[in-house]
Amino acid sequence: MRKLVTLLAAAGMMVAAGVASAEPITIKFSHVVAENTPKGKMALKFKELAESRLPGKVTVEVYPNSQLFGDGKVLEAMLLGDVQIAAPSLSKFNKYTKKLQVFDLPFLFKDMEAVEKFQQGPDGQKLLASMEKKGLLGLGYLHNGLKQLSASRELRNPEDADGLKFRIQTSDVLAAQFEAVGAVPLKKPFSEVFLLLQTKAIDGQENTWSNIYSKKFFEVQEHITASNHGLIDYLVVTSAEFWNGLPADVRPVLDQAMKEAIAHGNMIAEEKANSDRKRIEDSGVSTILTLSDAERAKWVAVMKPVWDKFAEEIGQDLIDAAVASNN
Ligand code: SIN
Repeated sequence: MRKLVTLLAAAGMMVAAGVASAEPITIKFSHVVAENTPKGKMALKFKELAESRLPGKVTVEVYPNSQLFGDGKVLEAMLLGDVQIAAPSLSKFNKYTKKLQVFDLPFLFKDMEAVEKFQQGPDGQKLLASMEKKGLLGLGYLHNGLKQLSASRELRNPEDADGLKFRIQTSDVLAAQFEAVGAVPLKKPFSEVFLLLQTKAIDGQENTWSNIYSKKFFEVQEHITASNHGLIDYLVVTSAEFWNGLPADVRPVLDQAMKEAIAHGNMIAEEKANSDRKRIEDSGVSTILTLSDAERAKWVAVMKPVWDKFAEEIGQDLIDAAVASNN
């Protein structure tokens, strides 16, 4: 009998200490885009890999379409422990670091290969840990792609944007970029863009082909300029406290699952950029304008001076490293 009491007491102590707890670790992954996008598919791949490799130990709940949090709130929620993984666009970390603004500089990267080279190089990798003191840990970069401009009127030359209201993400660089062409930038959540365009509260926006297609922006914008003038990529981010506190037999498995999920999302990103552009073209709802080299050069000339305004905050060395990735 005494032996039984001792055994029960020991079991009780183990449960209290969480040692023998059979409760799986719940990971909430919140994002703002549709499931049929590089980020949506990456999140589902992470869930599949994590749960199959850690059965009973980890449960991943994926919340797409701003169902749980919009990008404005998700990082605060993460620091409070209400969500464990998110992948906001690199333009949405302004409150936590100025360095990531480098990714918003207009006409910085000539293509996605250059973006990949910079992100995987020493400077890009260093940025992953740049917010750790503030409690946020970057797990990796995920691609979406280059941005296009859309508006209620044709945007062939920079003057065409004069006076138009454009929705932007919460980035001062993007605000300066639109001010450079005489437009009025308005910082608004992604979840509101369709309605703002539909009701003509704004005249235009900038986004990737997959976001323009999956959120039906093309249905409420007559004109799209294939400008490739900037980037929307993501930082897959977690709470440093949460990730560093994961059990030793769990974290390496999740690290690997995340690596593979990101590779999966990146593979899809390129395909989606092409196929969603084609779907928009085929819809015949909005016209896609391809700029001539001379027209593009005019946008570059007006927007590129924005770099100088942010060189001090970002660091000229970092900008130079990003530029060098184009070679
Ligand atoms: C996203 O792709 O996560 C949203 C981008 C945006 O806010 O425009």
